Amino acid sequence: MNTEDFDILKTGIDYLDNAATTMKPKSVIKAVTDYYKEYTSNIHRGDYNNSIRADKEYETTREKIREFINAQSKEEIIYTNGTTNGLNIVVFGFMQHYLKPGDEVIIDQAEHASNSLPWIVLSKKIGFKLVFAPLDKDYKLTVESIKNCITPNTKVISIAHITNTIGDTRDINNIGKLCKENNILFVVDAAQSIAHTKIDVQEDNINFLAFSGHKMYGPTGTGILYGKKFLLEKIQPIEYGGDMNTEFSSTGDYSLKELPTRLEAGTRNIAGVIGLGAAIDYINSIGLEKIHNYEISLHQYLLEQMKQIPNIKIYNPSTQGTIVLFNVDKYFSQDVAIYLNQLNICIRAGNHCAKMLHEVIQDNSTCRISLSFYNTKEDIDKVVEALRNQDKILDTLV
Ligand SMILES: Cc1ncc(COP(=O)(O)O)c(C=O)c1O
Repeated sequence: MNTEDFDILKTGIDYLDNAATTMKPKSVIKAVTDYYKEYTSNIHRGDYNNSIRADKEYETTREKIREFINAQSKEEIIYTNGTTNGLNIVVFGFMQHYLKPGDEVIIDQAEHASNSLPWIVLSKKIGFKLVFAPLDKDYKLTVESIKNCITPNTKVISIAHITNTIGDTRDINNIGKLCKENNILFVVDAAQSIAHTKIDVQEDNINFLAFSGHKMYGPTGTGILYGKKFLLEKIQPIEYGGDMNTEFSSTGDYSLKELPTRLEAGTRNIAGVIGLGAAIDYINSIGLEKIHNYEISLHQYLLEQMKQIPNIKIYNPSTQGTIVLFNVDKYFSQDVAIYLNQLNICIRAGNHCAKMLHEVIQDNSTCRISLSFYNTKEDIDKVVEALRNQDKILDTLV
């Protein structure tokens, strides 16, 4: 679907690594190059036309994002450089001052490093307890599992909406309800879901949400941290510098601007933010629901084909989504990826930055195919055919 909007796909690659990053449509590339070619300037600082235009485009993206996730106000949308940055701001700018020894934070073993390592580091520093909600027999995280972990000491639940390995979609609506009932802060890592399924931060009772622009057809180095306004106001910035202050003096007095600028120190990725605005327009022009439905049917097709190939172990055969995690019999996952690369097929191999998952699935390294709406049945047929010819893997390596 819409493959023609992506010049890079005309180079002949079979790109099946969309959980790592997505391709950029022409309109996003144009928005970025227009800024560089026609009105490069800084924002919030210039009294001339190019700067005023950059200001306008930059702030328009904020409104587009607000609408996209249904935040209450534009002040709740903070520009970051990605999901990792957003989650670190939550953990070290907010939680570091909020959590006390004896408190409990619930995560799980399928979380990406961005939503586990900051918590691990902070729990060592503060002495709160990190509780790992058990995954079920299919390595999915259920509402029931989370419910069973909640105690009077639970202060935060921080989970991926969709993980980048098993790819299961967590029921954030019901988990959000649980959080509300129990006075727990709900942090959602939306890196893998934002481009694939609808998120409504108010409806889902989300307190903090982080995602990356590059995984939603936007430029690298862009991201969003959403937070409810009263919580964002309590964040102690982890960066201080230009634009975010109102005044400071050699006596040590200083004051900071209002949200969102107080959390956006220095010159941000202006071109990237403008490109992100174009990415939102692009997604809206197709429709998230249409994207979602197409991807689900393509994934179903992939799964059916893969299940028929001998010697393939699929770790998430019951997951509905865009990701298939697998290994080919005796072959090391990276060897499989190298073999597929010879055929111009791009997949990911390794631990996928989810370094605790092997404690559960008992394999350190897996292959991952992750789809997007611009993939086609032909893309799938190509990788399936290559995996059927798995005896050629060794030939390409020696
Ligand atoms: C579930 C999940 N969370 C967080 C991240 C981190 O995203 P970024 O590297 O863009 O900060 C990723 C990246 O793959 C991810 O898949």
